[in-house]
Amino acid sequence: MLVVVESAEVATVWARRSAAEREGRPQLPCGLADGADAEFWELHRVRHDQSAKRTFTRLPGRRPLARRAMATSDDLQLSSLGWLLDHHEAKYFDRRRMVDDLGLKPGDAVLDLGCGPGLWAPMFAEKVAPGGRVTGFDLSNELIGYAVSRLADHPLHENMNFEVGNFEATSFDDNLFDAVFLGNCCCYASDLSVVLGEAMRVSRGRVFSKDFDGGAVIFHPVEEHLAAKVMEAAARALKENPPEPPFDNFIGQKMHGAFRSAGFQDVTTRPYVIQMTSPLRNAEKRYLTKNATWLGTTAEPYLSEDDRKRWEATFDPASGILDDENFYFCMVEMITVGRV
Ligand SMILES: C[S@@+](CC[C@H](N)C(=O)[O-])C[C@H]1O[C@@H](n2cnc3c(N)ncnc32)[C@H](O)[C@@H]1O
Repeated sequence: MLVVVESAEVATVWARRSAAEREGRPQLPCGLADGADAEFWELHRVRHDQSAKRTFTRLPGRRPLARRAMATSDDLQLSSLGWLLDHHEAKYFDRRRMVDDLGLKPGDAVLDLGCGPGLWAPMFAEKVAPGGRVTGFDLSNELIGYAVSRLADHPLHENMNFEVGNFEATSFDDNLFDAVFLGNCCCYASDLSVVLGEAMRVSRGRVFSKDFDGGAVIFHPVEEHLAAKVMEAAARALKENPPEPPFDNFIGQKMHGAFRSAGFQDVTTRPYVIQMTSPLRNAEKRYLTKNATWLGTTAEPYLSEDDRKRWEATFDPASGILDDENFYFCMVEMITVGRV
């Protein structure tokens, strides 16, 4: 049964099928259509509709939630629904490879902390079937609502459930899960040791954190000196005027040490090189444009007017950079794993 458990207020959802689904156009295995445009995401928009309430049940082994959800995903850097969908579609095959490497097995209970719109959950559910289950957990009512709606017809929907709450203080019992996964969310922690401590408390097996690092990003063909200036200015802006809620764009390089400091056993970190080359898929183009725009906007206070304009012009659709046959993007992501 696909359910949401919340402390009080119940999020209800309504989502129209994508244009691609209705027209029977080919889709990626993740259920997201390739070749989509802005209208596509508009059709995926999640609405809160009190008249379409789903069934909400309480799971065994839980206490009532200690804290209410506090923010929407739009309050966080790089966490809006549209961004997360593009991000997932652009890196779908890399993420499948990552999930293959986790060593999940049938019967495992997996907790996906900071699950967002539930894009990883079906990949975990496939690995732990039969007999396993996946619990997605996120601060955002909107994203959890989207996950519930989107996965309602998934063949493994009975093995997935979603909850709203704060991953710094969940109300799960100790040692409830075989694996706890944190996907791109430790960067938002106000105190990383608290998040890792909570993940450790509820795990009886392993904890995984999948992160990125803004220190290893290549865009080509962009004038190298300009790219270096934008990266440097963005790093400086994030350091000197930290966003609130927090966002650490250089979290990846810190995770191995953070797992060791948290007291995990057998800590290892595996790097994943993510590349995007010409010809780019539409999702990759959207992801890259949003990524470059975020970098430029973040860097702006420490860029000269000339550099700001040059960066903006580089990623303006009119520049054609994303259709250049020499285009090359590369970044490093990493998964850190520790045993409790
Ligand atoms: C970048 S998104 C990643 C979502 C998903 N793991 C993915 O990879 O598609 C980060 C997620 O962390 C969630 N998040 C941030 N702080 C949180 C907190 N304190 N408790 C629970 N979720 C949180 C956000 O709502 C957001 O969905």
